[in-house]
Amino acid sequence: MIGDSIKTRMATKDNDISLFVIKEQDITPQLDRVIREMLVVCFPADREYFQRQSFWHSPAVYRVIGKNDKSSIVAHTAIVERNVIIGPDLLKVRVAGIQGFCVLQDYRCTGLSNKMMSAAMDEGSRRSLDAGLLFCREQLEKVYNGMGWRKLDASVYLTDDKNGKTLIPSRNITMFYPLNAKQLPAGDIDLAGNDW
Ligand SMILES: CC(C)(COP(=O)(O)OP(=O)(O)OC[C@H]1O[C@@H](n2cnc3c(N)ncnc32)[C@H](O)[C@@H]1OP(=O)(O)O)[C@@H](O)C(=O)NCCC(=O)NCCS
Repeated sequence: MIGDSIKTRMATKDNDISLFVIKEQDITPQLDRVIREMLVVCFPADREYFQRQSFWHSPAVYRVIGKNDKSSIVAHTAIVERNVIIGPDLLKVRVAGIQGFCVLQDYRCTGLSNKMMSAAMDEGSRRSLDAGLLFCREQLEKVYNGMGWRKLDASVYLTDDKNGKTLIPSRNITMFYPLNAKQLPAGDIDLAGNDW
């Protein structure tokens, strides 16, 4: 039940926002539809993709959702769990991968994105994950920096059916959030699958 998983309530200038952590198996078809509607608005370039499905390349394990006092969804992120392989010793690190991180325009610059990220990483910590890992455009580095994320300089490889193992697209930077691991082992990062 969504009502059982409420995490945080916060007041913005116009609304009380409640944040919920929801396991993927508890996402109903109706909730999936409204999440897709929000993703279409926040990621217009990927409109056609998000009209069909509410996750990127990898299915989520849990999500954080912000609802306003009318129960409309105004903030969303989905989290994948993945064992990535790092460095020459091929060390396995279990990460929380962030995808679909967005806040509706009217609710931006209110601190909501910060609270949503905290809820997502608290849940990652509760699940004993080692670290958060996300990919974003360079211009968002400052936004995520403010939430405790740090840019990584490692080479990051993904594997997909079409191209095999390749570097992640060069337009993206990789950022890290400490959970169980205060830093990552040195070396290249193999995502052991597609990016998320
Ligand atoms: C990214 C996003 C969730 C940030 O939410 P937010 O509520 O604006 O975040 P904050 O209030 O913490 O903003 C912090 C700062 O980042 C800036 N900022 C926000 N989005 C930005 C962007 N896309 N590019 C550059 N700067 C941005 C804000 O202007 C603000 O700057 P300031 O502190 O100097 O005033 C929101 O802009 C969004 O939903 N964007 C569309 C979807 C998206 O691009 N998601 C990221 C995928 S990796």
